[in-house]
Amino acid sequence: MLASLLMTGAGWSQDEADEPAFSRGGADGCLGCHRQPELQGIFVSPHGERGDARTPFAQLECESCHGAQGSHPMGGRESVVTFGEGALTPVDEQNAACLNCHESPVGAEWHAGEHAAQDLSCASCHNSHLAKDPVLAEATQADVCYDCHQRQRGQAQKPYAHPVRFGKMDCSSCHAPHGSATQGSLKRLTLNETCYECHAEKRGPFAFEHQPVTEDCALCHAPHGSNHPAMLTRRAPLLCQQCHSQAGHPSLSLTAGSLPGGSPSALVLGGSCLNCHAQVHGSNHPSGITQMR
Ligand code: HEC
Ligand code: HEC
Ligand code: HEC
Ligand code: HEC
Ligand code: HEC
Ligand code: HEC
Ligand code: HEC
Ligand code: HEC
Ligand code: HEC
Ligand code: HEC
Repeated sequence: MLASLLMTGAGWSQDEADEPAFSRGGADGCLGCHRQPELQGIFVSPHGERGDARTPFAQLECESCHGAQGSHPMGGRESVVTFGEGALTPVDEQNAACLNCHESPVGAEWHAGEHAAQDLSCASCHNSHLAKDPVLAEATQADVCYDCHQRQRGQAQKPYAHPVRFGKMDCSSCHAPHGSATQGSLKRLTLNETCYECHAEKRGPFAFEHQPVTEDCALCHAPHGSNHPAMLTRRAPLLCQQCHSQAGHPSLSLTAGSLPGGSPSALVLGGSCLNCHAQVHGSNHPSGITQMR
């Protein structure tokens, strides 16, 4: 039965014995044996679009990705390209099957990226057989990443975090998943540029800049989530005192009554620094040099 299948519909040709041959039956031949319902979503995915000459199903169908059928299934699993975890096919070959069609723009980013250096396969993140690939949807992407990035899962659950856990943002809101020249594989050229995309009001320029803000938002903010309001890495005054000496605060020389906080101790206790220095991201007020307005 197997032999007759091979000789007829999905047969291999004798004259090209060293190069595995593509089947004549195409997808129909494969589907004769591979009927699993979980494989069939691919027909309604963008790859299944037969009207688009660039897609697999307008070309060699299943074999566009899985390679020539050749001696399969007699040759076993290793006789076709298998993908993802537990695959027998080396990662380079798996990825080449996809990059055949996706060299631009994916390939260029990919080869320079950390995930390629870590030997990930495209199928570590992409599921090609579902109608909708979960890694492409805001609501489901993070779960794919959390498979390997457990720490970020924990951070996203903290009380102050970007709305990733509500499916309103995803990791690729900030990251280039295929890779980028930026440290941390961010979407934009610098960390701050990445943040400005959504927090444009923090870009300035301000008449009075606060140096750490123009340098690196992450000096004060934990972008994956934090236990402190506004996703701060720590609370004020500790946050500020990492860089500003307590002793040097000029208000110590002022009389207690002349300050809005009442007494000098209000600087560090209930009042905190932000009660007075509210414009911590920079100020455009003529007397904004100390970021109080
Ligand atoms: C005659 C039945 C038959 C046909 C036709 C057939 N396969 Fe298979 N295929 C099998 C069997 C049986 C296995 C399991 C082999 C093993 O475990 O050693 C398999 C395994 C596979 C696997 C690996 C699955 C895994 O668990 O890793 C892939 C991928 C695959 N086939 C793709 C295809 C494609 C693509 C075609 C058409 C070009 C095709 N097969 C045609 C019977 C078939
Ligand atoms: C024969 C060419 C071809 C091969 C091989 C191929 N793709 Fe595609 N892929 C396409 C085309 C064409 C599109 C549709 C692009 C578009 O609409 O701009 C597409 C779209 C996609 C998309 C976007 C789907 C969506 O829902 O928007 C992803 C992700 C993707 N491919 C990943 C892969 C991966 C992973 C592999 C390897 C396992 C692969 N592709 C192999 C041609 C191919
Ligand atoms: C770390 C997970 C991950 C890996 C590994 C990965 N991708 Fe993607 N891919 C994504 C995400 C996330 C998106 C959606 C990007 C977005 O939302 O901007 C995407 C989008 C795509 C798209 C749609 C077009 C586009 O650029 O938006 C294609 C095509 C694609 N990937 C192909 C590939 C190929 C080919 C490989 C292997 C060389 C690969 N991907 C590896 C996560 C991954
Ligand atoms: C766009 C590339 C692509 C095309 C076209 C494609 N596959 Fe796949 N196939 C994959 C990837 C990637 C996987 C790994 C698991 C996943 O992404 O779902 C896979 C997995 C499989 C598996 C193993 C499933 C398992 O549970 O281990 C089989 C069998 C298979 N494909 C058969 C087929 C058949 C039959 C066709 C044609 C109807 C086909 N594939 C078309 C990319 C493709
Ligand atoms: C199969 C495992 C795996 C999956 C899935 C995965 N990653 Fe990774 N990723 C790694 C490994 C391994 C590293 C390198 C070690 C590290 O930094 O944790 C890495 C590194 C990174 C880095 C740091 C890159 C750098 O240049 O330092 C970012 C950002 C990242 N991944 C984002 C993502 C996103 C976003 C997703 C989901 C779209 C994802 N990863 C899915 C394994 C994975
Ligand atoms: C609001 C923007 C933003 C979002 C959303 C985001 N990240 Fe990041 N991520 C960053 C920044 C900024 C860095 C630090 C880059 C650097 O090293 O300077 C970073 C670094 C990383 C790193 C490198 C290791 C580390 O912790 O420094 C990994 C891995 C990572 N992110 C994974 C993820 C994953 C997975 C998601 C989705 C669950 C995600 N990120 C969502 C901004 C973001
Ligand atoms: C894709 C858009 C986007 C990007 C990129 C982005 N953010 Fe956000 N950010 C948001 C959204 C949406 C919120 C939630 C606003 C809300 O809950 O009202 C938010 C909230 C915040 C908050 C907390 C607000 C609060 O009151 O608790 C901080 C701090 C913040 N972002 C910093 C950053 C930093 C730092 C970066 C760059 C590493 C960044 N964001 C990148 C969209 C973005
Ligand atoms: C010197 C520390 C520091 C740096 C650096 C910093 N921030 Fe903040 N940020 C704060 C503090 C403190 C708060 C809380 C302000 C408050 O409660 O009024 C805050 C609040 C926020 C908020 C929420 C409230 C608001 O003002 O919209 C956003 C969004 C934000 N920062 C974005 C950014 C971005 C984007 C960057 C980088 C361009 C950045 N921050 C750099 C200290 C900093
Ligand atoms: C990562 C280090 C860092 C952190 C954290 C930081 N600052 Fe600054 N701050 C600076 C630097 C650097 C300057 C510029 C100093 C200079 O020009 O002498 C500055 C300037 C200032 C100035 C203006 C001083 C002047 O006379 O120009 C004020 C006010 C200020 N910071 C308040 C704060 C407050 C409040 C916080 C906490 C919310 C804070 N800073 C957190 C590094 C930091
Ligand atoms: C009660 C209001 C108030 C609070 C609270 C406060 N400051 Fe100030 N701060 C001022 C005033 C007023 C000045 C300007 C003094 C001057 O112009 O000589 C100032 C000046 C500064 C300067 C500029 C110093 C310089 O050399 O010119 C820094 C830095 C600063 N404060 C940091 C902090 C930090 C850090 C905290 C929290 C630990 C804090 N402030 C809390 C009122 C306050």
